[in-house]
Amino acid sequence: MIPKQILFLATAILLGTSALAQQTKAQFLNSLIAKMTLDEKVGQLNLLTSFMDQTGPFMKDDYVSDIEKGRCGAIFNAYTPQFTRKLQDMAMKTRLKIPLLFGYDVIHGHKTIFPIPLGEACTWDLALMEKSARIAAVEASADGLHWTYSPMADIARDPRWGRVAEGVGEDTWLGVQVAKAKVKGYQGTDLSAANTILACVKHFALYGAAEAGRDYNTVDMSRIRMLETYLPPYKAAIDAGAATVMTSFNEIDGVPATGNKWLLTDLLRKQWGFKGFVVTDYTSINEMINHGVVKDEYEAGGLALRAGVDMDMQGSVFAGHIAGLLKDKKITQKEIDQAVYRVLEAKYNLGLFKNPYLYCDTVRAQRDIMNEEHLQVAKDIAVRSIVLLKNEGDVLPLRKQGSIALIGPLADSKRDMIGNWSAAGDWQKAVTLLDGLKAKSGGSVKISYAPGAYVTGDTAMLRKLLNYRKLEPADTANAAQMQAEAVALARSADVVIMALGESQGMTGEAASRTDIGIPANQKALLKAVLATGKPVVLVLTNGRPMTLEWEDANVPAILETWFLGTQAGHAIADVLFGDYNPAGKLTMTFPRNEGQIPIYYNSKHTGRPIDPNNKYSSKYLDAPNTPLYPFGYGLSYTQFSYSNLRVSRAQMAANGSLEVSVTVTNTGKYDGEEVVQLYVQDLVGSVTRPVKELKGFKKIFLPKGANQIVSFRIAAADLKFYNSDLKFINEPGACKVFVGSNSRDVQEADFELMR
Ligand code: NOJ
Repeated sequence: MIPKQILFLATAILLGTSALAQQTKAQFLNSLIAKMTLDEKVGQLNLLTSFMDQTGPFMKDDYVSDIEKGRCGAIFNAYTPQFTRKLQDMAMKTRLKIPLLFGYDVIHGHKTIFPIPLGEACTWDLALMEKSARIAAVEASADGLHWTYSPMADIARDPRWGRVAEGVGEDTWLGVQVAKAKVKGYQGTDLSAANTILACVKHFALYGAAEAGRDYNTVDMSRIRMLETYLPPYKAAIDAGAATVMTSFNEIDGVPATGNKWLLTDLLRKQWGFKGFVVTDYTSINEMINHGVVKDEYEAGGLALRAGVDMDMQGSVFAGHIAGLLKDKKITQKEIDQAVYRVLEAKYNLGLFKNPYLYCDTVRAQRDIMNEEHLQVAKDIAVRSIVLLKNEGDVLPLRKQGSIALIGPLADSKRDMIGNWSAAGDWQKAVTLLDGLKAKSGGSVKISYAPGAYVTGDTAMLRKLLNYRKLEPADTANAAQMQAEAVALARSADVVIMALGESQGMTGEAASRTDIGIPANQKALLKAVLATGKPVVLVLTNGRPMTLEWEDANVPAILETWFLGTQAGHAIADVLFGDYNPAGKLTMTFPRNEGQIPIYYNSKHTGRPIDPNNKYSSKYLDAPNTPLYPFGYGLSYTQFSYSNLRVSRAQMAANGSLEVSVTVTNTGKYDGEEVVQLYVQDLVGSVTRPVKELKGFKKIFLPKGANQIVSFRIAAADLKFYNSDLKFINEPGACKVFVGSNSRDVQEADFELMR
């Protein structure tokens, strides 16, 4: 035992050192700011894109001269140690030698690409999610980067929205856990280490609720829903120490996020205590003119700075108007200095004032980027992200013998494997399903391949996907012949694997769709192949929940593989042949059709819950209320049964907790993993409560025939909610707890929360 006095002394010394460090930092930054001209200050608030990558419209082509003149404090879309060194050299020749900050969209890996976040979430493995962020940070920092525009913490319940691919789906509780894990992964415990980078939680706020799933569209929601469902993941990222926040494109209560003082100052800074800096999304200050809340850029700049924005991404509004706004007393010197301080502080925390070239290390780039260890983790995560949606008659796993026809436009497409927002991802090194099958079968299975169709036969969509370039004959030629060849191939094989779905450009930013099914031409191919009577396994590559009602009714086996990243093909092959027993579970509901959207598991009862015998109850005339695949759903090659759900006591004290336990048994033929999920319901509240809310999960491994008692602790705090006065409270009364393998198939028990 360490004596108390010594502990006390040690703590005092530590606190003293950190207070001293804070003081030194403040002195350094304040004295630097005191030396800066207004122009130099404005420069620090100006973030410009290089031409190395394009993640929005180019607005400015002379960013180099801005760096040279000290009129730009940060650059995005520029990487490699050589290039960032070159740009940093320019900054080092400016009067005050303030280092540049380099940012980039490192969303699901830098060069080694992991599954898209929506896919990775299906692992329900927080340690792995943190690990992929850690590796992304190691690679990005080795490639000259200081700052990633991730995690995206937007809750999303509308799969028409292409950006659902970038988040972890519809659930708040899960969103909170993942946001924390990602920030930890990127930032580590010491930002000044050369392999940690700043996280940027985005898109603050509510961007995932764009009306009708159309990107950049309006958002409107109640405060209760904001506080309870949409805001917690951003807050969790901030509580975990996220150094920066990005504003969203949408409005909130009629005021665009980028000019919303309630959001950026009252909530973010005053209530949540955020200390880092706020960057806008791409030109979102300028876009406030289109929103119709300001008449020109001058007004827009004033609104944004006063609201709490510190850095202008690519809009050059701060650069062009801060001086005028200050002169006209529309903004204050204090507001400018405060923003400058926050930006400089981030650079200080990264250690850039000590060594501006800390991240420009070619040796590290050689050693740390796409090394064997990273590729292995990418594969581990990829196999765990796969969700088995259907497996009738145990078509899967396949045996390593006979012949397989691999058919589909996504069977051998390297670029599509790494998916959207894969920024610097090295797609040429991606493993396709064809590569993976060949490698796995080692010659014992005859594998033949035919693309069978283009990704889409919709030429209007194709043009958009090709960024409006003129279509060439090669883009659409010989579609009928392709299909015929594929069908012939199917006839000659024992089993057919159909690799269908979306191309990488069909999800992500500016990629909303109103029809979220498999494109019609691919579906026609699928029908023609099914007509051969051969057993078919549908392997889906896509970035959103799709409408698969027809496929579910007609195809014996369906595997959801998302965009799995660099190691995609190896991971899918492992699952197809049973070298890995799939255990992924959906984190977003799959609707039966687009008309059901928005559809999510934690909905409200309504005053007229569905009653099959009552016309005047909440339902559709032409479809059930239930989704095709619910939240939390995913099959295994084995089966799990749940029994003996118990709560440790029938009453939970006002500030107490209780234990919930259940026996899970592997009743099938294979060893396997299962994600045991726990949900709660508060039956009567002063405001209505969801029918179920996820509050915990455990991922377990069970050998065939084995069983395990899985227990959870739930506390009164887990049952808190926002009442009509927007107070976060517990209300006593009857509650239910549910445990099961998805949000639909559960056992339930009752308890009462006491006063
Ligand atoms: C716009 C996107 O909305 C955002 O997510 C991204 O970080 C920026 N562009 C920068 O590329």
